[in-house]
Amino acid sequence: MTRPGGETRVNDHHPHQVSLPSSLQAPQAEAGEQAPPLAAPVPPVAAPEIAPGTAAKLSVRDFSLYYGPTQALKRVTFDVLEHSVAAIIGPSGCGKSTLLRSFNRMNDLIPGVRTEGELNVAGLDARSPATDVVDLRRRVGMVFQRPNPFPKSIFDNVAFGLRLLGLRDRAELEGRVERSLRKAALWEEVRDRLDRSALQLSGGQQQRLCIARCMAVEPEIILMDEPASALDPTATARIEELVLDLKRSYTIVVVTHNMQQAARISDRTAFLLNGELIEYDETRRMFTSPREKLTEDYITGRFG
Ligand SMILES: Nc1ncnc2c1ncn2[C@@H]1O[C@H](COP(=O)(O)OP(=O)(O)O)[C@@H](O)[C@H]1O
Ligand SMILES: [Mg+2]
Repeated sequence: MTRPGGETRVNDHHPHQVSLPSSLQAPQAEAGEQAPPLAAPVPPVAAPEIAPGTAAKLSVRDFSLYYGPTQALKRVTFDVLEHSVAAIIGPSGCGKSTLLRSFNRMNDLIPGVRTEGELNVAGLDARSPATDVVDLRRRVGMVFQRPNPFPKSIFDNVAFGLRLLGLRDRAELEGRVERSLRKAALWEEVRDRLDRSALQLSGGQQQRLCIARCMAVEPEIILMDEPASALDPTATARIEELVLDLKRSYTIVVVTHNMQQAARISDRTAFLLNGELIEYDETRRMFTSPREKLTEDYITGRFG
């Protein structure tokens, strides 16, 4: 869509501007430790060194979802590249959580849900009844809006998925729990109280614990549904740093109603409105020169 004047920038004229950080790139991080392959029977996950932008890890084609007679998603199409962060933005009720839940089949639990189109998620056909949902959910982890640690010890929370997959060796479990907690930037805070209840942690720590729990089984994709909206600014900043750090190893899709957050942490942004994908583009471009009038109206605060 050609904009009048060509060079006009959305943010020049509106008070509700979205300030872009000087760089949307992840900070250069020191070489992270590589987890050794999981012991059988947990299958090892290859971590090929593919430059960002070279392969789609998640591919959505003409995807529609109905809650009974109500269509909540309307022929949504977009790709998320490996080792990148995609943000999904849009007003409340536009279908962000519904879309995110579709990627690991969480909507299966809701009666009357029907879907159409294609969903290729971490190499699996996420819509096919033949797809093993347990396998899908191991490849696709999820972090929710409210931290939801189990009423168990910190250690047992992180070890939970590994035990579910059959890992019993204590030393192996301890190594993996530590690595996950380190990746989630929580290890230093909890190393001397792993046997204490996870419920004693602060909200921000609980959310990082949930991220550690999610990463312990080495997923390929991490879905986050407004992961920081229940947290204070300091805890939010830590989650944002973590997302930027984690995208070196994972593909991340994050729902947020906070546009500054989307601008800070994502490579690409999808704007959803009433179940329709209005625009999907590089985040920097989307927030400086959106192609669609609806996107411009939304990011400049005219509705939503
Ligand atoms: N379990 C459900 N059953 C019926 N309708 C639902 C259900 N969950 C969400 N919806 C409807 O689907 C639409 C999208 O909801 P949701 O995905 O939660 O939006 P968002 O996360 O963007 O706020 C809304 O109209 C909502 O009322
Ligand atoms: Mg939601």
